[in-house]
Amino acid sequence: MNFADSEIVASLLKKEGHEVVADIEVADFILINTCAIRDNAEQRIRKRLRELRALQQRHPQLRIGILGCMAERLQNQLMVEEENVSFVVGPDAYRRLPQMLEQVRQAGVKAAETELSTTETYADIEPVRLGSNGISAYISIMRGCQNYCAYCVVPYTRGRERSRDPETIVAEAKGLFEQGYKEVTLLGQNVNSYRWQAGEERVNFPELMRRVAQISPLLRVRFATSHPKDLSDELLEVMASYDNICKCIHLPVQSGSDRMLKLMNRHYDSAWYLDRIAAIRRYMPECSITTDVIAGFCTETEDDHQMTLDMFRKVRYDYAYMFKFSMRPNTYAEKHLQDDVPEAEKTRRLEEIIALQGQIALENNRREVGRVYEVLVEGESHRSKMQLFGRNSQNKVLVFDRHEVQPGQYVRVRVTDCTAATLIGELVEEN
Ligand code: 5AD
Ligand code: SF4
Repeated sequence: MNFADSEIVASLLKKEGHEVVADIEVADFILINTCAIRDNAEQRIRKRLRELRALQQRHPQLRIGILGCMAERLQNQLMVEEENVSFVVGPDAYRRLPQMLEQVRQAGVKAAETELSTTETYADIEPVRLGSNGISAYISIMRGCQNYCAYCVVPYTRGRERSRDPETIVAEAKGLFEQGYKEVTLLGQNVNSYRWQAGEERVNFPELMRRVAQISPLLRVRFATSHPKDLSDELLEVMASYDNICKCIHLPVQSGSDRMLKLMNRHYDSAWYLDRIAAIRRYMPECSITTDVIAGFCTETEDDHQMTLDMFRKVRYDYAYMFKFSMRPNTYAEKHLQDDVPEAEKTRRLEEIIALQGQIALENNRREVGRVYEVLVEGESHRSKMQLFGRNSQNKVLVFDRHEVQPGQYVRVRVTDCTAATLIGELVEEN
């Protein structure tokens, strides 16, 4: 999300004559787009600000601004605590940036814009693709979240949920395809609740996916993130009926314990979640499934933790983002619950989940050996110039000898070996 937002910011500033520079030493402004989801994300930003002090001493005209969720959460307080910050801009206020840069250019002036909006979607802004490989791009389709999971700061930093109109989304995807892009990822905090209504026209997420998938069979379509409470069969049906909709679903489970899920305000229990997993497998047996999980949420017991491990054994995820619970200011958890799992215990539980998931991912990958996949080639392998890497529809990375192949091409690759993170393969000759 932040990456996509930075591309919108770059576009808004480019219109006013600013440009992105590769060398930090020649920058007039540094804009840091921030995340507030866990405390360590914010601590990293604080550290980065300290590191930038020397640069600022060498270049007294340099101005530093903080964008995104940390800006929204801390507002003016951030400029007081971090004296080298000149401006603070929340996620719905980026249109004000050009004007603010003008203001802060005059020495001594500081500025903050953190008002949240119920309508802003930046629908008319064509993002400037930053550091792009020219092959895959993100498209933001909605903003905000009002699910109010008990641990989560997002509803407070990104505001009410709102959907962007389907016409500009489809036009953006079409434009990317015409420029040579081969893959788009539609982004929202909870894409299942994408909803657009104008007069007679009603578009939900499955319908939006259908429209984007119909642009071309050569354009892959991905999306993130689905909330398990409203992952519909209708969406699974649409996914199954288009080859270019990638067979990969990110379905954050957060915990395997019903008591924890209720306390987290997730609006589903483990039975519901497993029913959705069964539905995915029914419609698309080849679909990969990934998740997010939190270890050590308030009052989590050893039994609750064991239920999370059981959930991992049952679903057998292909990949997981695994986190220790971090208490966030102003959330339901902070107001009403106790962060009572000791740090060492959180660490132990997280490590157990990581170890189990590593084992499952390796076993899953071993089963891939011998299979042939269509791979969209993304670039040179990090290990060797003689090898390329790309992804299959399931979003698994495949590495193979390059021969005459170029990034951006679709090729067929047979899996010959694997690690827990990567499939190793060989090109299959086309007849
Ligand atoms: N502590 C730890 N992890 C969190 N997440 C969200 N809030 C917190 C928190 N307070 C995780 C969830 C979510 C992912 C994006 O970040 O797993 O799905
Ligand atoms: Fe946070 Fe829950 Fe919204 Fe995801 S769905 S952004 S975890 S409140």
